[in-house]
Parts: sequence; structure tokens; C-alpha cells
Amino acid sequence: MNKLFKCISKSEIDEVPIWFMRQAGRYLPEFRKIRQQNPDFIKLCLNPNLVKIITLQPIKRFKLDATIIFSDILMIPYGLGQNVRFEKGIGPKLEKLNLENTLKTSKENFEKKLTPVYEGLKKVKEETKGTSLIGFVGAPWTLLVYMLNEKSPKKDFTPDKILSDEIKVKRLMDKIIDATFIHINKQVSAGANVIQIFDSWAELIPDNKFDKYCLEPTKKIVDYVKSLKVPVICFPKGIGVNYEKFCLTVKPDCISIDYNIDPNWIIKKSNGIAIQGGMDPKILLEDNKKIEYAVKKYLKTFSGYPYIFNLGHGVLPATKPEKIEFVIKTIRQDR
Ligand code: CP3
Repeated sequence: MNKLFKCISKSEIDEVPIWFMRQAGRYLPEFRKIRQQNPDFIKLCLNPNLVKIITLQPIKRFKLDATIIFSDILMIPYGLGQNVRFEKGIGPKLEKLNLENTLKTSKENFEKKLTPVYEGLKKVKEETKGTSLIGFVGAPWTLLVYMLNEKSPKKDFTPDKILSDEIKVKRLMDKIIDATFIHINKQVSAGANVIQIFDSWAELIPDNKFDKYCLEPTKKIVDYVKSLKVPVICFPKGIGVNYEKFCLTVKPDCISIDYNIDPNWIIKKSNGIAIQGGMDPKILLEDNKKIEYAVKKYLKTFSGYPYIFNLGHGVLPATKPEKIEFVIKTIRQDR
């Protein structure tokens, strides 16, 4: 059963579906083992057999209600001809953008470069028929940041650094949106039945440009996903009170909240749409008592609402896998 769909469409809200952002990742020893043997992360994302194995690793361990394809939001820059590397301890490094070449990338070439991603999805689909299979993309703003900043904007980043040439930004943004449509369409054709849009760096948008770089481009993507009759979840991380405006104007089917959002506040502001996530991933580094308290707080606050259990960001690499198990048991009350 596609449990996320049932929750989002409000046809079944008694059972809270559970999944975790980064449920396949470095906190799992079986992932680290494969990763060690595959130092090139992009190549790993382009290996359909390994994509299938990694995607299913958390599904084999835990009783999760959704599978998210193992891939990365930076596959779109890669498909547009900008090479990406991942450096240990630093994160992603993108080569300098060759704008004209990127703008010239044809649909055929883009699809061809990313074909192994869709092949991996098809393989996963064979094993997860009828259940929730999540495809995903980065939001246009977050991809723009990576493509122009060439690395994570954690340090020494100011929006002026990338926004000074407005014409260039507009041309690139339009290309990112086109590529995102293609990437979503191909993921849905390969079997994804839910799409999540990650705007991991939405908090960096200056307030007076929030509509232009967050709401407007994201709404285009959301409307496109809706046209495919697939539910869409948005995660505009770190936007604070702007979550209200986001729900009202972008109107995703479900809103994923970060750990700074007050659960009671979002219920009043979400305009009736389903809510996902919220709990701080750092809580999973604490003892079981604290975890149980936090999990129950989210469940209680959202009881009677369409709510999907998840965290307020990805599972941290230092998390013990048993803690994920404990969270699931706490929610299902079958300890
Ligand atoms: O959630 C899942 O299990 C699906 C897989 C997934 C990955 N990346 C695998 C991954 C998803 C949904 C993503 C999305 C992604 N990628 C985002 C949006 C979500 C977020 O975290 O805010 C972003 C910003 C990226 C870009 C990215 N990829 C960064 C900054 C890094 C390095 C640092 C980090 O956060 O892990 C990655 C690498 C990456 N993507 C890893 C995994 C499992 C770790 C790879 C490794 O070094 O072993």
C-alpha cells in the first residue's frame, strides 16, 4: 500500500507512516562498506545494481513505510555537464560552471547521462511494488547555489556572491527548472509514486528575494508534479515564519518541517495540508528516554492530523541504527 499517499490524501490518518531522510547512508555499516569500495560517489549513484542494494538496506533492517531512492540532488548539475566530486570531510565540490555549455545540454543528452539512475529506480520498483517509493530533486534555488558557489554554502557565503549578474542567474534558473521537469518525469515513469523537493538552503535567500527564488520556482515544480498526478512533499529548510506563506502560495500536498518549527504553530499555518517530520536528528544521539519523550511529543501534537513521521533533517552519520529501530517501535507501541 502507498501509505504516504493514504496519509497525504487524508483517506487514512490513524496510522502514522514512518520514513527517514537519509535512511540509506553513513550511519549504516553496510552502506559504509559499499562506500569504502566505491570512492567515486557520483559513479556509485550511477550503478543501478548498487543503487538498488543501498536503497533497500534500511528497508531490510526496519519496518519503514516508504523507500527513497539512493541518489543525490547534485545528479542534475552532473547531467547538465558540471562535474561533481565529493571530498571526505568537506562535501561536494563542483567544477567551475561553463554556462554556455550547460545551457546547450539537450534533453537527450541529459537523459542519457542519468539513465542509470532511472534503471536503478526500476530495479527498486520490482522489489517495492504497491508501496511508497519516493523520487526526489533539489529545489531550483538550492541547485543554483551549488552550481554557482561550487560547494556547500556553509562558510563564507553571501547571496550577492552568486546573484550579482541577474541575467545569468535567470538563464541558469530556467535551465535548472527544465532539467528538473525531465528528471521528475523520468523518475515517475521508472516507478516513483511520491516526489520530495529539497530546498536545503532556502534560509539563505534574502527576504526581499524570497518570492523570486523560493516560492515562484518551487511552485512551478510543484504544479508540474501535480500534473503527473503524483503527491509532492516540499522541504524548504530553515525559512521560519515563511513556512506560512509557503503553504499558502506553493500548496504542496505535504510540508516537511525542520527542527526549528514549532509543531503547534505549523498546524495552524499549514492550511490543512499534511505535515511531515520535525524532530531534531540530534535527539537520536541521546538516550532512549529522551528519544521516547521527543517522539511522543510529535505524535501527540499531530494526533488527528495527517502526519508522516520523519526528522527535521537527515539522519546524522553518528546515529546508531538501533535508535532508528527504537523510534519505530515507540511509534508502533509494540515493544
Ligand atoms: O535520503 C536518502 O536516504 C536518499 C539519498 C539522498 C542522498 N542525498 C544520499 C547521500 C538524498 C535524498 C540526498 C539529498 C541531498 N544531497 C541534499 C538535500 C537534503 C539535505 O541533506 O539537505 C543535499 C543538500 C545533497 C548534497 C550532498 N550530498 C551533500 C552536501 C553531501 C555531503 C555531506 C552530507 O550531508 O552527507 C552529499 C553526499 C551524500 N548524499 C551522502 C549520501 C548517503 C554521503 C556520501 C558519503 O560521503 O558517504
